[in-house]
This record gives sequence, structure tokens and C-alpha cells, in this order.
Amino acid sequence: MKAKKKQPGFATRAIHAGQEPDPLTGAVSVAIYPTSTYAQQGIGENKGYEYARVSNPTRTRLEENLAALEGGIAAPVFASGMAAINAVVSMLQAGDHVVCGNDLYGGTPRLFNHIFTKFGVEFSYVDTSIDENVARAIRKNTRMVYVETPTNPLMRITDLGAVSRICRKKEVDLVVDNTFMSPYFQQPIWLGADLVIHSTTKFLNGHSDGLGGVVVCSKPEHAEKLAFLQKAAGAILSPFECWLILRGVKTLAARMEIHDRSGRIVAEYLAQHKKVKAVHYPGLADHPQHELAKRQMTGFGSMITFETGSLKNANKMLKKVRVCALAESLGGVETLISHPATMTHAGLGVEGRKAIGITDGMVRISVGIEDVQDILDDLDQALAAI
Ligand SMILES: Cc1ncc(COP(=O)(O)O)c(C=O)c1O
Repeated sequence: MKAKKKQPGFATRAIHAGQEPDPLTGAVSVAIYPTSTYAQQGIGENKGYEYARVSNPTRTRLEENLAALEGGIAAPVFASGMAAINAVVSMLQAGDHVVCGNDLYGGTPRLFNHIFTKFGVEFSYVDTSIDENVARAIRKNTRMVYVETPTNPLMRITDLGAVSRICRKKEVDLVVDNTFMSPYFQQPIWLGADLVIHSTTKFLNGHSDGLGGVVVCSKPEHAEKLAFLQKAAGAILSPFECWLILRGVKTLAARMEIHDRSGRIVAEYLAQHKKVKAVHYPGLADHPQHELAKRQMTGFGSMITFETGSLKNANKMLKKVRVCALAESLGGVETLISHPATMTHAGLGVEGRKAIGITDGMVRISVGIEDVQDILDDLDQALAAI
């Protein structure tokens, strides 16, 4: 092993960035500061903290940590992934336009179409896995291109380098929801993104025990606007939830390695199963964008969507799972299995789902870090019910 790198490696940053031992006591775990306000020394004299909606020491540490992991300059955290997305779009004004992926987490278009359109922000939805669609959809009033890659649940990949070049030319910000990959497997800022969003509820926390969201910024003007939104709108993350993420993130690198290894094994297993009609996983050689996935990501992760053929089949198998939990969400240490049409993407309606190819027979699995043989055995007995 060679000595001396410019900056510490990912796992080292995950454990140490913002998580330095407490200067007062030496405690190696960041302290939780459950306070709503801070005693001040005089008018305009304080120790950097005035009121907890504006800032909190536990939150500061988490924000430093997440900025270091994504290669950003700031990483304001919010009460949930949706609160983070809400803050990003709140930077816009009436008359602005956003080009979005057409296969996003269902809650995202729900927020855009039901809340922000009321305030005059316009949204167009296109398949961003085809770069030209993005270029064509950009108008004079477009301010942002908003993508998830891989998409949820179809696992389509957007070429972030190519789309960021389009955005740069048109002076439009590129926003990437990096929840599925985590910064361990994909670094959108290095690929040209301006803002990176995570639902920290998923892989970053990793233990299915707290909601949260973050927006990692590469530009000071975004960092300033989002800090203002934390203060003005107040959808901030509590100190305890911040601490949960700080703890979870320490094992991110180790967890992601197992998620990825087991994800590949489960995807291969599903691909050869005679009752499974299709498997959507960028790590499979027959995924239409496998080569792009290899270039853009350093792993394929553990999100897999597969086709059981019908709602009836999906229900039969989902009723039988025992190791896998039938639940919304993803990215936890435990394997979570879900039914996009009736759960995460119910809000799109039948036509909306049909338009982008989400079927009633689709099942999405977030492969956890249990012994992979137990996950395979569980899927095997559940699929036998079809
Ligand atoms: C890709 C993605 N982004 C954002 C969200 C919203 O995050 P939260 O549930 O923390 O509000 C989710 C939730 O499932 C998600 O899957």
C-alpha cells in the first residue's frame, strides 16, 4: 500500500470528518445538544449559536461530515428528504421552469405538481436517460434540471457528465437526488452537478430509525440561500436525528460494500429464476446502460426491481416473505421489499405509471446486509407461491 494521499479516503472521512473528538471531554462520539436557545455574552456577542432553528452544534458536525463525503462546500440538513427537496425548489420563483426526470420517487412529482405549481413554478417531465431529451426540454425560463440516477423504480441511468455539460451551456443548475447510490458509489458534484440531494433516511443513516434530508452544495450562493431557508421555513433536523445519521454514516463504506455484493448476487439469482419475467439492475450485463453505470458509479448498489407478471403474483409472493420485510423505504441494514404501484408510486395514478412503464407486477427490493443465503432462501420460498 502506498503512503500519502491528498485527502483521507472515503471511509476515513465518513468516520472522522466533523466527528473529531470533543475538545472539552475527548468523547469520540459527537455530543447531542438538545437545546432550543443559547446564552449570549452581551448584545451581539455569542459563541456562534443563537437559536436552534438557525443552528445547532450536533447539526453543524453532521453538515460538515456530509459535505466532506459528497465533495461539497456545505450540506444543510432538513427534517426529511422531502423537506430537502422542498427547500431546493423554494429557491425558485413564480415563472421559473424545472426539467425533471419522468421516473422519480413518487413523492417528488407529488410535491412539484400539487404544491409548487400553485405558486407558479412549472415542471416538465422527460426521460433524462436520453441526454437530448434534456437539451430539448430546456426553455428560456428553465432554472434547474432535476434527476435521480438510477431512477426509482426502473433503474434507468442518466449520464451525469453529459447532462451537466448541457446544463452548464444553458446556465441551468443540475440537481441530482443521489439517495440510491449514496456518495460511496456515486459523486455527482465531481461529475458536474451543482446540488446533490439525499433522503438520509435511506443508506446514509442506514438503520431505518430516523427521517432526514440533505442538500449538498457546490456553490456559496446556494449554501447561503439554503441556510436562509432553514432559518426562515424551519424544516430543520433535530439534534437526535443528526446524531443518528452521524453514527450511521460511520459504517457507510462497510455497509455499502455488503449491499453491493449481495445486490449483485440477488440480481443474478432473480435473473435466472423462471418465474421472474424481467430484472432491472444496472449491475447486470444485459441492463441497457450497464457500460454507463460502470463508468459513472463505483458500485451498483442493492436496489433491484423485478417483474412478477401481475398484481396477483406480486401479492402472493409479498405475503410469503419472512426475512425480507414488506415495507416502504430502502437503504436499511434489513432487506426491504415493496410494491411500487401501490406504495411509493401510487400517487402517479394508473395512467402516470403506464406512461413510464411501472407495472402492477413490479416488486422492488432493497437488499440488506443479512447473510445473503438467507435472503435468497426467503425469495425462493416466496416466489414458489406464484
Ligand atoms: C430517491 C428518494 N428521494 C427522496 C425521498 C424522500 O425522502 P423522505 O422519505 O426522507 O422524505 C425518497 C423516499 O423514499 C426517495 O426514495
